[in-house]
Amino acid sequence: MENLTYTHNAEAASVIARFYDSPPMAYVHSYGCQQNVNDGEKIRGVLLDTGFGICENVEQADLILFNTCAVREHAEQRVFGNVGALKKLKEKNPRLIIGICGCMAQQKHIVEKLRASYPYVDLVFGVDGIDRLPAMIAQRLQKGRRYLEDPRERNAVVEEMPIRRDSGFRAWLPIMYGCDNFCTYCIVPYVRGRERSRKPEHILAEFRDLVSKGYKEITLLGQNVNSYGKGLEEPMDFSDLLNLLCTVPGEYQIRFMTSHPKDASRKLIDTIAAQDHLCKHIHLPVQSGSNRLLQQMTRHYTVEQYLDLVGYARQKIPGVTFSSDIIVGFPGETEDDFQATLDLIEKVRYMQLFTFIYSKREGTRAARMPDPTTHAEKAARMDRLLKAQDAIAFPMVAAMAGQTVRVLAEAAGRNPGTINGRLDNNLVVEFPGQQDLIGQYVNVRLTGSRAALLTGEVAQSNRT
Ligand code: SAH
Ligand code: SF4
Ligand code: F3S
Repeated sequence: MENLTYTHNAEAASVIARFYDSPPMAYVHSYGCQQNVNDGEKIRGVLLDTGFGICENVEQADLILFNTCAVREHAEQRVFGNVGALKKLKEKNPRLIIGICGCMAQQKHIVEKLRASYPYVDLVFGVDGIDRLPAMIAQRLQKGRRYLEDPRERNAVVEEMPIRRDSGFRAWLPIMYGCDNFCTYCIVPYVRGRERSRKPEHILAEFRDLVSKGYKEITLLGQNVNSYGKGLEEPMDFSDLLNLLCTVPGEYQIRFMTSHPKDASRKLIDTIAAQDHLCKHIHLPVQSGSNRLLQQMTRHYTVEQYLDLVGYARQKIPGVTFSSDIIVGFPGETEDDFQATLDLIEKVRYMQLFTFIYSKREGTRAARMPDPTTHAEKAARMDRLLKAQDAIAFPMVAAMAGQTVRVLAEAAGRNPGTINGRLDNNLVVEFPGQQDLIGQYVNVRLTGSRAALLTGEVAQSNRT
């Protein structure tokens, strides 16, 4: 694996400066997971470093970049729809550059489709192209021809990339890239390449910088944070990394995702229990409650092992809550398999579930498995799962009324004059408050709930 450092591309910046009469504007939109959102923040940083300004709507843009997700078919269709809608803009402004990057652009058939059927898309590059973006734009401008890169894998980590973060108080911090697990349904290992861990000193430096800038919530990112450290010169596992970060003084909380159950250790649970900075909430995607399907998915754990870990966490971390991802309608899922998933969610009693109907991804092993269940049947199962989950979660949410909790005020609420704050357990509470609270910790007394949303009020003389 290569360790690289970003350097400012002065030559590309001067080509770009000469081409435009005034500083060009870029519009960047990211789809998909937080990893991709963080990549989008780096794309903006690199563009700013190369002389672009950032704009928030496509009409003002000289460069439009869609940073895409390939995890489900629906995500890809949305991108194609949104790109199609740009054709008119391009007709009005032939100098407009339209680019597609990210996970979709790592698939050969997608690049071929863009090449053949979307002639107005003139820049295509994959997930490892962000540091080379200035050079690509310069080449596109100088040669006046489309610049489409075929998918490739670089197996590198690039440090010191400029970044323009979306928020001043919540930050994403990738600790590793790629995935080696090859769960049979999943495209991510194919588009994100092999697992690479960042060096602890680089992570610590970025973390310190965030804390010193006043960031309150820092979410560590990786497709499987529990396998952090593989391949590093000095052995270090994820719990060691968490302990290292928690030595940084300051008022902040740490979240992380995603924890793969096969690698989530008791040591990790003990670490969460011991460190005040770590949120007492674990996102632990189970995918299915059927051992037969877990094996077909190659998840490398059983329902029993999963429940054992959940039980251990409940015993060690008072008040711990769980959330999970579930796939409904994996190829060959029977009514019994699905019932096993319903049984599992009853046992774990998740606070939140992220549920997905299985989407066939070309090139994955599951794509070749027989899948006789109709979409209508899968949708009906999904409906049952959501109803079962609501029946579990809503009373748990409602039962929190009366508690006073510390929340991070994160945005304006839906009702005028209210603020949304996020609890340690990832639930959201809406409470009356002024905009100037956003980005601060507030103690809130929970007064009730509407479905999964808590309602509350600022606790008297208790603002931190
Ligand atoms: N690395 C993480 C998940 C990344 S993808 C993990 O292992 O948990 C996020 C979620 O998308 C997955 O947890 C899974 O539930 C869902 N997902 C991935 N591929 C999918 C597919 N082909 N169809 C439907 N859902 C999928
Ligand atoms: Fe996909 Fe599995 Fe890797 Fe998660 S661990 S990204 S689900 S292959
Ligand atoms: Fe999507 Fe790529 Fe993330 S496929 S979920 S944006 S890693």
